[in-house]
This record gives sequence, C-alpha cells and structure tokens, in this order.
Amino acid sequence: MLEIKNLHVEVEGQPILNGIDLTVPKGEVHAIMGPNGSGKSTLSYVIAGKDDYDITKGDILWNGESILEMDPAERVAAGVFLAFQYPIEIPGVATMTFLRTAINSVRKARDEEELSIPDMMKLIQSQAKQLAVKPEMLKRGLNVGFSGGEKKRMEILQMALLNPGMCILDETDSGLDIDALRIVSEGVNALRGPDRSMLVITHYQRLLNYIVPDKVHVMSDGKIVKTGGKELALELEESGYAEYDEDAA
Ligand SMILES: Nc1ncnc2c1ncn2[C@@H]1O[C@H](COP(=O)(O)OP(=O)(O)OP(=O)(O)O)[C@@H](O)[C@H]1O
Ligand SMILES: [Mg+2]
Repeated sequence: MLEIKNLHVEVEGQPILNGIDLTVPKGEVHAIMGPNGSGKSTLSYVIAGKDDYDITKGDILWNGESILEMDPAERVAAGVFLAFQYPIEIPGVATMTFLRTAINSVRKARDEEELSIPDMMKLIQSQAKQLAVKPEMLKRGLNVGFSGGEKKRMEILQMALLNPGMCILDETDSGLDIDALRIVSEGVNALRGPDRSMLVITHYQRLLNYIVPDKVHVMSDGKIVKTGGKELALELEESGYAEYDEDAA
C-alpha cells in the first residue's frame, strides 16, 4: 500500500506540491488526471526518489514504512517502479545488457537468486514478444533512436521484468498509436493483481477504457481537488478543468 501524507514539495524555493494526501491500497489501480503543470510528474518523481526536490513537509510510506531516506535504486528494489513520461536514451549500453543488469541487481537486493544468462534471455525475449518489442531493439543502445511509442513500450517491458509492487505510469499513453495503446494496456492489465498497486497518470479518458481504474483523482495546483470513480474521467472529458482552476484561485 502506498500512502502519501500531506506532502509539500518545493523546487528552488518554489512550491509545486501543496499538501498531497493519497492512498493507493494493495491491488487497486488509481488514475491521476489534471491540467499541464499541476504537479503530476513532480509527484511521480518524488515517489521514485529523483533528487532536485525539497520535501518541506509530509511523508511517503510504502507498506507502512517511510521511503524518503531511500535512494531511487533502493526504492526499485523495494518494489516502487516509475515508467517515465520522457524515457531517457543511454547510448553505449545495449538494451539487453541493461535489462539483465537491472533484473539481477533487483533480485540480489531482494535476496533472490540471480538468473543464469539463458534463463534471463528466455524471460526477456518472451516478455518482449508480448509487448511487441522487436528483438533487434534489444541489441540497440537503451532507447537510442527508439520512436516515442517504442520508448513507452520499453518502459512497460522494464516494469514487467522488475516485478514491482507499485507501478507508476506517467502518460504512458501519449504518443502511442492505436495498436500500441492496446498492446501496452494489455501488458499493464496483465500485471494487475491483488498484490500490486498502480498509479496511472493520463490526460485521456480513452486510456481508462482499457485500464479501468478503481479511483480517479483530479490534481490542480499541486493538490488533489477531487476524487471519484471511473465516471469522473468521463465528466472531465465533457467539462474540462475550469471548475477546479477556479477552486484553486
Ligand atoms: N526543476 C524545476 N524547476 C522549476 N520548476 C519546475 C521544475 N520541475 C517542475 N517545475 C514546475 O512545476 C510545475 C509542475 O510540473 P509537472 O511536470 O509536475 O506538471 P505535470 O502535471 O506533470 O504537467 P504535464 O501534464 O504537462 O506533464 C510546473 O509549473 C513546472 O514548471
Ligand atoms: Mg507530466
């Protein structure tokens, strides 16, 4: 279970998150929607442990324990995984090598046995096939020259391989063509389960037809201003965010 309590975050003295309270219980999928600049990516980065952010108040608990003192790799090992809105390119590191290293370092941190190279290759290739990641992409540098949609699929492949308890997806749907949206959504849905929580950040109700959330939260000006069921996403599609901007002003 992920619990965010009265979280206040600043960047260079500028407040960006202004008291976020959010709980994602085990097994649930929650969506976050909200206008550009409302703080959705900032929230996802702070959960994942990216530095450059000052947490001035509040706490983030994963399974009852604060993760604020943990570095990003420790958080991944603890099961908190973020699929980036803008995945970075790492030239010089073959994607396959990157994935193998990531899997084994996470397994090691979790006191699990390392996988042999053949077992690892089999695992990666079968997951890659399900997400329509082409074998030659695994030989290229991580994300180097990948199209926007290919990068997003690579994020979901990493997520599937690292077996996290908490998956955060930041606009995984943006830039995907219709087939890729379906493939990625099926990949995400295959990961849904009683032991896994998910936080899905999106601008489009359309994604939530595929990945049906238990709850939808609206974020505005660094706060959660409304929470509802999946129908809230449909209402937003009709009415936009004007109502919440006024509330925030
Ligand atoms: N490093 C930074 N320095 C200064 N301002 C920042 C920094 N990072 C984020 N911000 C500001 O914080 C606010 C929230 O940004 P964030 O990326 O979290 O929004 P978002 O809700 O993800 O928007 P979008 O829907 O466009 O992805 C924005 O006004 C942004 O300019
Ligand atoms: Mg964002």
